[in-house]
Amino acid sequence: MAAGEGAIEIEVDLPGGGVLAGMAEVVREGLSSPFKELPPKFFYDERGSALFERITEQPEYYPTRCERRILDRRAGEIVRSARPRTLIELGSGAAAKSRVLLDAMRDAGTLERFVPVDIAEDITRRVAAELVGEYPGLAVEGIVCDYETHLERIPRPEGALIAFLGSTIGNFRPTARRSFLARIATLMYPEDRFLLGTDLVKDPARLEAAYDDAAGVTAEFNKNVLGVLNRELDADFDLDGFEHVAFWDADNEWIDMRLRALAEQYVDLRALGMRVHFARNEEMRTEISAKFTRERIEAGYADAGLELLEWWTDEEGLYALSLARPAAGSESG
Ligand code: TRP
Repeated sequence: MAAGEGAIEIEVDLPGGGVLAGMAEVVREGLSSPFKELPPKFFYDERGSALFERITEQPEYYPTRCERRILDRRAGEIVRSARPRTLIELGSGAAAKSRVLLDAMRDAGTLERFVPVDIAEDITRRVAAELVGEYPGLAVEGIVCDYETHLERIPRPEGALIAFLGSTIGNFRPTARRSFLARIATLMYPEDRFLLGTDLVKDPARLEAAYDDAAGVTAEFNKNVLGVLNRELDADFDLDGFEHVAFWDADNEWIDMRLRALAEQYVDLRALGMRVHFARNEEMRTEISAKFTRERIEAGYADAGLELLEWWTDEEGLYALSLARPAAGSESG
């Protein structure tokens, strides 16, 4: 489609049976291990997505506001450095942050294409329709998929800014994080840029409050995972039988999120033909949220074949946006 016309193309690349297909075995494995763990991808059903929106509005949860402030302030600079024609956003959601970057690209006269990548089909379609109206001539090529498994299938025209915001990289386990960054680096052309949002190491009390807000929204969000299992795997978790736990793990530099059984109990997961025992006070991990320093990000980039170009934080130094490019001499394209 020629520039100036605007067009929408949405490709859906979900496994048959949707997001939860293939997860049954992961849940079985996680609940069979002596230290129980649930896969975090279960958080974002419709109710979970709405609860997460509310988390971002809690006074204790600073990352969303900080990231937005840095973006508002630096979007022009980001675009001048990269001069991207395409914005690829991993986990685009409602595209609130994408608009800040798209505005800057339009103002710089470089904007041609937006590639939103998200697991939620309805929101991606709605956002695509809105954006072609807001940005005359914009082509939207959305991909509905799990970007962790489908990364290599995302269209990647030259001259792209690849954005991965919300400190979602912190929710990856260290090995998955390393390989994800390396895969990103392999996909990039020399002129492409990678924009990453990362929450930073700070006072543990401040961190723990962000993951255990006084209104109890994060607790509700965490427990909602059990509701998803009840529905999808025909399980009978008692949501009131567990409490939300979030603590700073100083050795790993991550917030560890768990659900603690308030009493000894058995849970049946009928779709798995499985009965699980919980001891009183037994904890099950549901998520980690790693926090970073500039040194660790820079080292992580170097390991992955990326080179840090810019590092921006908010005034308080709570959160960082960084811009990277493929390291000179590394394979690309
Ligand atoms: N990427 C967000 C973060 O790590 C996700 C998040 C915020 C989250 N609060 C949570 C995940 C509570 C699980 C539980 O900050």
